[in-house]
Amino acid sequence: MNYDIKDIKLATSGLNRIEWAERQMPVVTKIRERFRREKPLRNKRIAACLHITSETANLARTLSAGGASVFLCASNPLSTQDDVTASLVRDFRIPVFAIRGVNRQKYYQHIKSALSCGASGAINSPHITIDDGADLVTMVHSERREMVKTIIAGMEETTTGVIRLRAMERDNALLYPMFAVNDAQCKYLFDNRYGTGQSTMDGILRATNILYAGKIIVVCGYGWCGRGFAMRAKGLGARVVITEVNPLRALEAVMDGFEVMPMRKSLKLGDVFCTLTGNTSVIRKEHFLLMKNGAIVANSGHFNVEIDIPALEKLSKKIKKNIRTNVDEYILKNGKSIFLLGEGRLVNLACAEGHPATVMDMSFATQALTAEYAINNVGSLEPKVYPVPTEIEDWIAKLKLATMGIKIDTLTEKQQKYLSSWCEGT
Ligand SMILES: NC(=O)c1ccc[n+]([C@@H]2O[C@H](COP(=O)([O-])OP(=O)(O)OC[C@H]3O[C@@H](n4cnc5c(N)ncnc54)[C@H](O)[C@@H]3O)[C@@H](O)[C@H]2O)c1
Repeated sequence: MNYDIKDIKLATSGLNRIEWAERQMPVVTKIRERFRREKPLRNKRIAACLHITSETANLARTLSAGGASVFLCASNPLSTQDDVTASLVRDFRIPVFAIRGVNRQKYYQHIKSALSCGASGAINSPHITIDDGADLVTMVHSERREMVKTIIAGMEETTTGVIRLRAMERDNALLYPMFAVNDAQCKYLFDNRYGTGQSTMDGILRATNILYAGKIIVVCGYGWCGRGFAMRAKGLGARVVITEVNPLRALEAVMDGFEVMPMRKSLKLGDVFCTLTGNTSVIRKEHFLLMKNGAIVANSGHFNVEIDIPALEKLSKKIKKNIRTNVDEYILKNGKSIFLLGEGRLVNLACAEGHPATVMDMSFATQALTAEYAINNVGSLEPKVYPVPTEIEDWIAKLKLATMGIKIDTLTEKQQKYLSSWCEGT
């Protein structure tokens, strides 16, 4: 088996973590049991570019139980859990091409290896691609267009990736069908909001051990991730300031009880700044210069472009790396220090363990069932961005509730009739 990981000897710790995550992933476990019996993904090759965490390992096991050959690479150079990759190789015979902290060249080499389904020499095409940030899709469209003949469909896990796919669709550049898994309610309502919300807080805490109570935390972007983080920071007693560019989202933040102001005004106030926008250069040169001495800066959006790190480097007379684990101190020429967490990469994965398994259960159940759906509907899909079918979402929500021991009401016949009629008035 062809693979590239840090150290196979880390496998036992990885296995413990995979099994720990599995305990919180009853929906994925249920799907895996059925997949093992029915083998709906038999003889299919799946290339997946995801954050390689213990939760992702449980998705990979599930796809593999369904009969697929799964090839994994990382969707961010700092999000790989090296013990998990070791266990995937040793215990589950799943080839992984990912090592935490690799340089850009190696990172892309790993993407190519997973996309070629581990083949050395001749290139093997996948039938399904799964992305978190569109790296596989981009590589297929730019360098490996011949693979399109074999690919049935792709799935996209995150907001930033879906934005790119929609841009490709708009420009008629998309070459194969894609499913916007991120846009499924059973994904973004929980994963982006509660998952990113809690784990972003966790990443900042693990890196700095600051007390949130009384701090002024500036949250840039009040989307699903920003809402989640703002809610949790407030819960710990922080004074939360929101910056936004979308008037509706800004209004929502005001009515949710947060201070809303332009970035420039927040600079003199903020103790901690965290970007969650999916946009570029949200914190840049003119902002660093006005921040308080000792300001902490982090990003939880997909790419490390939300904070202009090259500008921060240029403003600095000295950079002290790793003054704590995952904390770099930039000493500016104006004498102030700014602390950057996790090199400006997703702070929840670079400085903590990413989303809790409970929410990844729903995200990855969606991935697994959508892969099955795509295979069952081969031939009827076009190169477009598709939503996840509602039946899949309903099934996951029902099962998740059941596994939590929560029952809900059902519509009576009279209510069903009332809701579907247009004749009844006051
Ligand atoms: N850290 C994680 O594990 C994780 C998980 C899910 C999504 N993400 C990523 O987080 C980012 C945000 O995702 P989302 O689902 O919240 O997206 P979203 O579209 O719901 O929200 C983004 C918000 O940022 C705002 N924004 C854009 N530019 C801005 C600027 N210059 N200043 C202030 N606000 C600005 C937008 O108006 C929008 O309200 C994406 O890159 C997504 O891929 C990260």
